[in-house]
Amino acid sequence: MASTSSSFITLVSFLFFLHLSCLFNNLNAKHILTKNHNHQHQHTKNPSSNPRLYRAFLALQAWKRVIYSDPNNFTTNWIGPSVCTYHGVYCAPSIDDPEVTIVAGIDLNFGDIAGFLPNELGLLSDLALLHLNSNRFCGIVPITFNNLTLLYELDLSNNRFVGPFPFVALSLPSLKYLDIRYNEFEGPLPPQLFNKSFDAIFVNNNRFSGSIPSNLGQTKVSVLVFANNKLGGCLPESIVNFADTLEELVLINTSISGCLPQQVGSLYKLRVFDVSFNQIVGPIPYSLAGLSHLEQLNLAHNEMSGIVPSAVCELPSLANFTFSYNFFCEEEGICQNLTSKRIAFDDRRNCLPEKPLQRSTKECNAILEHPVDCFELCCPEDGGFGTNVTAGSVAIPTASIPAAMPVSAPFLAPSYP
Ligand SMILES: *[C@@H]1O[C@H](CO)[C@@H](O)[C@H](O)[C@H]1NC(C)=O
Ligand SMILES: *[C@@H]1O[C@H](CO)[C@@H](O)[C@H](O)[C@H]1NC(C)=O
Ligand SMILES: *[C@@H]1O[C@H](CO)[C@@H](O)[C@H](O)[C@H]1NC(C)=O
Ligand SMILES: *[C@@H]1O[C@H](CO)[C@@H](O)[C@H](O)[C@H]1NC(C)=O
Ligand SMILES: *[C@@H]1O[C@H](CO)[C@@H](O)[C@H](O)[C@H]1NC(C)=O
Ligand SMILES: *[C@@H]1O[C@H](CO)[C@@H](O)[C@H](O)[C@H]1NC(C)=O
Ligand SMILES: *[C@@H]1O[C@H](CO)[C@@H](O)[C@H](O)[C@H]1NC(C)=O
Repeated sequence: MASTSSSFITLVSFLFFLHLSCLFNNLNAKHILTKNHNHQHQHTKNPSSNPRLYRAFLALQAWKRVIYSDPNNFTTNWIGPSVCTYHGVYCAPSIDDPEVTIVAGIDLNFGDIAGFLPNELGLLSDLALLHLNSNRFCGIVPITFNNLTLLYELDLSNNRFVGPFPFVALSLPSLKYLDIRYNEFEGPLPPQLFNKSFDAIFVNNNRFSGSIPSNLGQTKVSVLVFANNKLGGCLPESIVNFADTLEELVLINTSISGCLPQQVGSLYKLRVFDVSFNQIVGPIPYSLAGLSHLEQLNLAHNEMSGIVPSAVCELPSLANFTFSYNFFCEEEGICQNLTSKRIAFDDRRNCLPEKPLQRSTKECNAILEHPVDCFELCCPEDGGFGTNVTAGSVAIPTASIPAAMPVSAPFLAPSYP
């Protein structure tokens, strides 16, 4: 939490600073425009007066040429060399030379713009923020992005980008926030992604496959959202490497199978754990009883079995425990009456003899006759890319799944203040 909020504060002050400098700059630019037409004219003629703004001008013009639809007229005023007056373009004094104005941010969030990202965007080497959330940009992220060495935030969410994971983002030394959810990226997730000092990783609603890399590195990530991808494989034991920071782990509908590793119980900061709509088998690891900050626990729509342990139901922060659509056969102690603890719960469609709305005896027996051995059913140690994991699983029709829009981290939502 501390790391999340401190980097949040850093970010806010940074954005605020940027905003102020932009206002200042815009005012400045307008002042020049109205008071001194001549000066502005000279500036047009002599781009060498600020080669960095001139490079930005070339980049933005190249971009405008490959914008095919701009229904909100975001780029209509992208004319002439005064790039600091362009809609969505934010200038600031350069870090290396405060006398020099540079393009520090571009925010076209919710533009509904269609087009692609041309190679010339590599000329925007002063850029710290690029927000393109909710547009119709397609194609791939150009390799020239490796020139954006100051880029701090890259938000490409809710567009139509395709191709493999944008590896170029992993080469950016300053990048702290990468959001690529709701696109059409495919192929495996690179292990290097989990070696970066990102605060949050959102890759949900793409077409990633392969599996969660089994050699997860040590990161400072506090929010990990993989939901709605075809990852497959198991939740690797190396998830324990995130123990010191991870607060939200959201793996809804990611085709993961196997048993939950005991190591989940080591994620002592976890507040949200949602593995619903997968093919997880076996029992609830008893280690979950150690997650004293856990508020939301969702195991629904899996093939889990065994006892729902009272130690989990007694977790001090638990507010919602959903475990419907599994094969649990007993609720231990207080788990039988979570209402008395004011915990929201859903235990429907299990094999709980005392409870209403359970599965049929036939359905239950089919599973209960074949107990799962989590030690036998091990996941490949070096898993990761292209490994085949088939945990003897019964296909269960899945109901419709709530789209995993930003979970309970609204402050991380991609938008410019
Ligand atoms: C964008 O500009 C066009 C042409 O000037 C105009 O018809 C349209 O209403 C504008 N759209 C918006 C959302 O302002
Ligand atoms: C990278 O940025 C530098 C300026 O920092 C510029 O001179 C160069 O042309 C850029 N390269 C590309 C591929 O855009
Ligand atoms: C992660 O970083 C560590 C230390 O810097 C390095 O040894 C390891 O190879 C890296 N892993 C990946 C997958 O890049
Ligand atoms: C689960 O995710 C896949 C994408 O991997 C998606 O096509 C499917 O609609 C999702 N399932 C549900 C029930 O939403
Ligand atoms: C509990 O969590 C489930 C699954 O995320 C959700 O559908 C349900 O609305 C939640 N209940 C309450 C009372 O918040
Ligand atoms: C659950 O507990 C509440 C309050 O403690 C009680 O009123 C209710 O009857 C209990 N329900 C069951 C099914 O035991
Ligand atoms: C995965 O399993 C399928 C079917 O069982 C098989 O056709 C395929 O070759 C396997 N792939 C790998 C990488 O082992």
